[in-house]
Amino acid sequence: MRIAALFSALVLSITTFASQAADPIIIKFSHVVAPDTPKGRAADYFKKLAEERSKGQVKVEVYPNSQLYKDREEMEALQIGAVQMLAPSLAKFGPLGVRSFELFDLPYIFPNKETLYRVMDGDIGQKLFGLLSAKGITGLAYWDNGFKQMSANTPLRSVSNFKGLKLRIQSSKVLEAQMKALGANPQVMAFSEVYSGLQQGVVDGTENPMSNLYTQKMHEVQKHLTLSDHGYLGYAVIVNKKFWEDLPADLRTTLNKAMQDATVFERKIAQEENDQALVKVKAAGTTQVYTLPYRDRVVWQKALLPVHKEFEEKIGRDFIQAAYRIAADVEKAKSSKHTPQPAKDKPGAIKPD
Ligand code: LMR
Repeated sequence: MRIAALFSALVLSITTFASQAADPIIIKFSHVVAPDTPKGRAADYFKKLAEERSKGQVKVEVYPNSQLYKDREEMEALQIGAVQMLAPSLAKFGPLGVRSFELFDLPYIFPNKETLYRVMDGDIGQKLFGLLSAKGITGLAYWDNGFKQMSANTPLRSVSNFKGLKLRIQSSKVLEAQMKALGANPQVMAFSEVYSGLQQGVVDGTENPMSNLYTQKMHEVQKHLTLSDHGYLGYAVIVNKKFWEDLPADLRTTLNKAMQDATVFERKIAQEENDQALVKVKAAGTTQVYTLPYRDRVVWQKALLPVHKEFEEKIGRDFIQAAYRIAADVEKAKSSKHTPQPAKDKPGAIKPD
């Protein structure tokens, strides 16, 4: 009897193993950036961890560079289950009807990455993920890129330089308001079309962190770059909710852990990737790089501050106020640890009223 039971258990495990080996669960992970960016490298790292740790139960197919879908299409593809995983920028959730993610687009809202991580990893981040559930989406992690820089074919030093320029933006109403507040004409365009849009003069300029600017070769078609750090670009790694909930619980645990580790990796490399990209852009010599001095940063901030108020209702006053409070706490903790720096050396946050 015992031998018969053992034998059937053995047959069962061989069959399960064989069917798992033959039919891994496929996770299609689509994204729009180059493989050698913070997001691209972390997606590949997640693939490695997920496949190794699940012992072949899952296969993660990473499709970079909008190979499968462009910005808007990829959200739809996720919802209908044509792909299982994405990492869209936080500026691309508005068209889904989840406008609160545009908190992350508010100009100068994060004076440093500590504030940003506390927003992402705390209550605000979790509440934002909660809003995705009704859209058939589950949020797994927040990934980093970095602060955005402005580029164009003409110098962007004072606010008046923006007047009348056509500037490409992601599909965020906050970014639209930001460009208008500077006097520019914002134009929504998919990321995969930005290089040709700039090359053909459909738009005059854009904003992005250095890693995206360099890997898309935007510096070849942009004569001027201003290091302004005026806004932030990060990502939410999201999955199709039904797909995720239908996975065996132990496999979901394995994948969650792989995602946590990929997130630590991603945040570690993000700044390095952006720093290296800046060095490469400078070395290419096609773009004049200008660092916005503190006195001008204050003027830009003043022009952009009304955008916070304008979006209080759409984003949620509570979210904005909570982000201000976190920024103030971080600043307080820093200044109690260090001797105060002269104001001109401090990165600029907009102070809440
Ligand atoms: C953009 O469209 O500019 C960015 O969201 C691209 C990205 O995913 O980093």
